[in-house]
Amino acid sequence: MSLENIISKSIKDNNHPIGFDVFMNLALYHQEFGYYRSNKTIFGHKGDFITSPEVSDLFGFSLAKQCKQVLNDGDILEFGAGSGILAAQVLFELGRLESLPKKYYIIELSAQLRETQKDTLKKVLPELIGRVEWLTELPKKFKGIVIANEVLDAFPVKRIRYSSGNFYELGVNFIDEKFKWERLKVPFANSNIPFSMNFQEGYTTEINLQSGAWVHSLFDLMTEGTVFLIDYGMTEAEYFHPQRSQGTLKCFSKHKSNNDPFSDIGSQDITASVNFSNVARSAKECGFEVAGYTTQSMFLISLGIENYLKNEENEEKKVKIAQEIKQLVLPGAMGEVFKVMALSKKQSVKLDGFKELDLRGRL
Ligand SMILES: C[S@@+](CC[C@H](N)C(=O)[O-])C[C@H]1O[C@@H](n2cnc3c(N)ncnc32)[C@H](O)[C@@H]1O
Repeated sequence: MSLENIISKSIKDNNHPIGFDVFMNLALYHQEFGYYRSNKTIFGHKGDFITSPEVSDLFGFSLAKQCKQVLNDGDILEFGAGSGILAAQVLFELGRLESLPKKYYIIELSAQLRETQKDTLKKVLPELIGRVEWLTELPKKFKGIVIANEVLDAFPVKRIRYSSGNFYELGVNFIDEKFKWERLKVPFANSNIPFSMNFQEGYTTEINLQSGAWVHSLFDLMTEGTVFLIDYGMTEAEYFHPQRSQGTLKCFSKHKSNNDPFSDIGSQDITASVNFSNVARSAKECGFEVAGYTTQSMFLISLGIENYLKNEENEEKKVKIAQEIKQLVLPGAMGEVFKVMALSKKQSVKLDGFKELDLRGRL
């Protein structure tokens, strides 16, 4: 049975369109055929998209410097560790800074990716792999640092469309052997929609219902520590900007993006940008302090990423490092679309990564 058959059968069995979040969950995470469960190469130049740690080790090295400041004898817990390269970078640099955590936990939904992560760490950091432990569920208690790079954008979202004063959910139906959007009849009520924003007829956007619950569960399990969320996203005012009339949903395959989640189901990534104001609201509701919000560019610059370039003596390596830094920090590359948010519990340190620019006031 193919993933298309499985999804269409669930629509037929339901006798009703399914929510896009249900569709996205199956397309990305179905046990056997979901995109993140496949054996194909997803990350890096040979895959479908490139994330910051895949661009350069300096991303993880800089993040490690930020971790050192707030580790306080705690451990690290990384969600959705992709190829495992970020874990290797962070551990390597923390080793160099003589600040290694006792444990580096990874929670990864995909069994295939867990194997990839083990292979990466065995290959590039065999001396530290003993500190890495893969968890299949959230720990009961945790003290330390939580890292999630490009994880929230991979959470299944609802898709909604504005019409005559209300938003309606766009469900997914299967008609004439094709998946089609279908507007559901009952208005979609959600307190995260800023109705004061004067939406145009047909305005379409996404709502991530899982991120709030996820933030709450982190707060419950953390005794103290800091969460670093790094993702492409924006404030609420930007997220629901009138010009963003078709939302933020995107699909990726072989480094090209498209807007059709119904093509190549299970073979392409599906993502939606993060509404960081919404994440901050959920965080404050449960008791986190929002300890910083800035662009990836200013986060890495605040942590002194350019020092790696200054300290490199080999001319060839210098050229390579300069190119990598450009890709991570330039506004036209990954510097401004990506943001970093820190949430802290029982900690009052002024975080180094936000010292050059802190945009919390805009959230
Ligand atoms: C876009 S990839 C990012 C991978 C990696 N962090 C990087 O930056 O290269 C999204 C990752 O999040 C994982 N993921 C999605 N939802 C998750 C969840 N609820 N818990 C843990 N991992 C999750 C996926 O399996 C995948 O590894």
